[in-house]
Parts: sequence; C-alpha cells; structure tokens
Amino acid sequence: MGKKTVYLPECRSTNDEAASMIARGLAEDGLAVVAGAQTAGKGQRGNSWESEPGRNITLSIVIHSGFLDPSENFMLTVIASLGLCDLLSEYLPDGEPRIKWPNDIMTLEGKLAGILIENFIRGHRMEWTVIGLGINVNQRIFSTPGAVSLARICGQEFGHDELLKLLFHHFENRLRALRRGLTGTLMSDYHRRMYWLGETRRFEVGDREIEGRIEGVDDLGKLRLRVETNLRVFDFKQIRFLH
Ligand code: BTN
Repeated sequence: MGKKTVYLPECRSTNDEAASMIARGLAEDGLAVVAGAQTAGKGQRGNSWESEPGRNITLSIVIHSGFLDPSENFMLTVIASLGLCDLLSEYLPDGEPRIKWPNDIMTLEGKLAGILIENFIRGHRMEWTVIGLGINVNQRIFSTPGAVSLARICGQEFGHDELLKLLFHHFENRLRALRRGLTGTLMSDYHRRMYWLGETRRFEVGDREIEGRIEGVDDLGKLRLRVETNLRVFDFKQIRFLH
C-alpha cells in the first residue's frame, strides 16, 4: 500500500481525483492520492472538510474491493477506522483515540480525523473503493467547532512523511486481516475502540429527540441502540448524535 503515491500540491478533492483515475482505468490496488491542499474537500453528510493548506494530511487510498460482497462493505469502514486508530495511538495517551460511529476519530479534546468512503460497484459486485482520510496534524486554529489536531494535543509538530509511512503500514495490516477473513477480530477491535459504548446519550431521529444506550453495531454496520426496553437499529442517514 502506498507503493504508488500520486502527490498533488493542490486539487479539489483527493477522493474525486481517485475516482477520476478509476474511471480512466488508471487505478490500482493500494494507490494513494495525497494532496498538499484541497479546494473542495468533502466531508460526510454533504459537508465540506476544512484543512489548512500544507498543515494536515489529506489523502485517498484506492482498494480493489472485489473480494467483498456489497453487504460486507461496513468492513471497509472498520479497517479504515482501526488503521487510523493504530496510527494515532502511537502518539496519544493510552485508551485514545476512539471511534465515534461510524468513523469519526475522536480524542478527549475533540475530532482528530475523518473518513469518507466511496464505493464503486459494477452490477452487483464491489469493484473499487476510495477511502478518503483527513487527519488534522499541524493546524492550530479551526473554524470547525470541536476539531483538534495532533500538534494541539501533543504540543509539537509532526512530519507528514513519517505519519504517511506508518499509516500505510497499519492500513496494510488491517486490510490483510480482512482479506484473511478475520472479521470477528476486526469487529471486536472496533467495539473496543467505540466512543460512548454502553453509555446513554441523546440523538436526533427525524424531527424527534430520543435517549438511548449504545450497544454497538450489527454486521451491516448499523448502530444498535437500547431505547427504554427496545433494541433499535439505525443506519447513518437515520440518526444524528446530539453531543
Ligand atoms: C468527515 O469526517 O466528514 C469526513 C472527512 C473526510 C476528509 C477527507 S480529506 C481527503 C479526502 N478527500 C476528500 O474530499 N475528503 C476526504
């Protein structure tokens, strides 16, 4: 992974660049597209992704995901989240970072990294997957509420090359585990890192507020929530954390 890396000093979005390489037949398994700056970085739920030029890591990794059934695509969220946690835990105190379902990487100080996964399906088969990663590294001031960087937490700056090298190493490990079918281990590692697991929190569902206890995720990646005595499951579009 990362053996072929395309570095772009500036682009709109590394996910879009990777998608365009797939469309033009230029993609390969493990290809990484790294940008110095994005002019239209994309976040989840149609949001944009704030990243000060040259200060942070913004990249997309292309994976040939044909070995997975479309129903297993949550496992890509799992390996991306765990790969990032493996990397960041080398720099953070024990027990951190944590995964706010489905794939925000959190610390006690705030959100440190985000993931945007886009799947390219042919017929009923997965073909390519683009895993977009935004890691806040050396940026000090954010306009996005709740965002934090490694430099803010650790009080020192970090070189991008070292971080990228380690990131590819950890990603490769997690992807290898998935290819070997170790989904049980990956899911239990995901749960071990899960933010607010077992805690009662408030959520927005449609135009209502509910309170529920987070019990984990199911095999499809839906959030399992105990609401009073009922176990309910929600997908990403149906529910929003209120804190
Ligand atoms: C989120 O938490 O909302 C997801 C953020 C994902 C940001 C990364 S930065 C590199 C890649 N290219 C994009 O346009 N977005 C992702």
